Amino acid sequence: MPEPLAAPVFPVRRPDVIAAALKRLQDQEWTRLEGAPDTEAALAAWHGPGIRGTTPEVWYLSSGTAALEALMLGHELGPGDEVVVTPYTWGATVSAILAIGAIPVFADIEPLTGVIDPAAVEAAITPRTRAIMGVHLFGTPFDGTRLRAIADRHGILLFEDGSQSHGARWNGVRVGAFGHGAAFSCMGYKLLAGTEGGYAVFHDPAAAERAYLYGKHPRGLRPDRAAALADAGLLDALQLGWRPCAIGAELIKAALPYLDGENAARRANAAHLRAALGDFAGVTMPPEPAGAECCWHLLSFIFHPERIGCDLDTYRARLERLGVGTFRYIPVPIHRLKRLNPHGYDGPRVLWHEQLRRAGVDYRQTSCPHAEWRAEREFTMGFNWTVEDPASMGRLAEALVRAAQA
Ligand SMILES: Cc1ncc(COP(=O)(O)O)c(C=O)c1O
Repeated sequence: MPEPLAAPVFPVRRPDVIAAALKRLQDQEWTRLEGAPDTEAALAAWHGPGIRGTTPEVWYLSSGTAALEALMLGHELGPGDEVVVTPYTWGATVSAILAIGAIPVFADIEPLTGVIDPAAVEAAITPRTRAIMGVHLFGTPFDGTRLRAIADRHGILLFEDGSQSHGARWNGVRVGAFGHGAAFSCMGYKLLAGTEGGYAVFHDPAAAERAYLYGKHPRGLRPDRAAALADAGLLDALQLGWRPCAIGAELIKAALPYLDGENAARRANAAHLRAALGDFAGVTMPPEPAGAECCWHLLSFIFHPERIGCDLDTYRARLERLGVGTFRYIPVPIHRLKRLNPHGYDGPRVLWHEQLRRAGVDYRQTSCPHAEWRAEREFTMGFNWTVEDPASMGRLAEALVRAAQA
């Protein structure tokens, strides 16, 4: 019986990161109405310019969902607008689109990586499309260069949901630089983990300014801008609750300098694991596409029942007994979720049913075969190894193979 495999505790909380948060508590600065300008400046500097040479403006907000909404509202998206999005993501990517009144249109994924397929995006664009929302999923970036070219060709916007991929790169460029804007979650299990929190990267200062009116406290405004808005009668408290936690902002600022090193260790460990798995064909480890530098927030394997001879739940139970905890991250692709389909629905009232009906949307007609195929077969594990650890990767590979032979 091999030694059980204990995944390292996550998130990593370094003593100096905790000390920074403690200092904020001791200073009794638990809330700062002006937001978190120092954290925002650190994030903007770390992200660097957009691929079209823009200087990013970053807002640290209450959550990744708030950041998604801020991006879309800042760019004046709303009722009637279509947003092309992957059906294979954490649901908040899609519910943020619905919450601002817009209509998600689903484009299929690349089956092995799970990220949105540019060809499917192009096919989903209609005259009503205002934006593409791509998700850098599990630490794997989508092809930002190609999606931005598609967006530019059609005169629409590209947004990036980088909530699972802080620091991943495409063609050497960090995610968050490809779109007109990007959103990142910093909830406690993310690679950059605050308490709860998230941030929006705007590449258009006018959009940032417009979004300001929805969710940032006026105290964070430049005095001249605040005066201009007050004169126009636009400075009010009609807000959507995006005010961030000051302690979380401190954690992010203190943890940021470690992130690239941790990502490099995760990549090295993913390479060790791939090598240790060798030609084992029972599960497929997600590939690192040419052009991508993945940061492997999660490992989402594809399970092949016909090669292993048991079903997915049995295999996962065997892994559990070998000390490897797994979960099914996306058991149902979003377009198949019950609450997204008003037809025949009998649960509690759902905010977006009316807007979907009005737009004549019926997701029963939507087909995304790759997402459906992957959802049936995937199992996921957190990949928290932030120090290079070939021995643990060998044991993990051994557990994956042994569970297939049981
Ligand atoms: C891909 C993705 N988008 C959006 C979110 C929403 O972020 P939050 O939970 O901080 O609102 C998350 C994570 O929770 C996520 O993984």
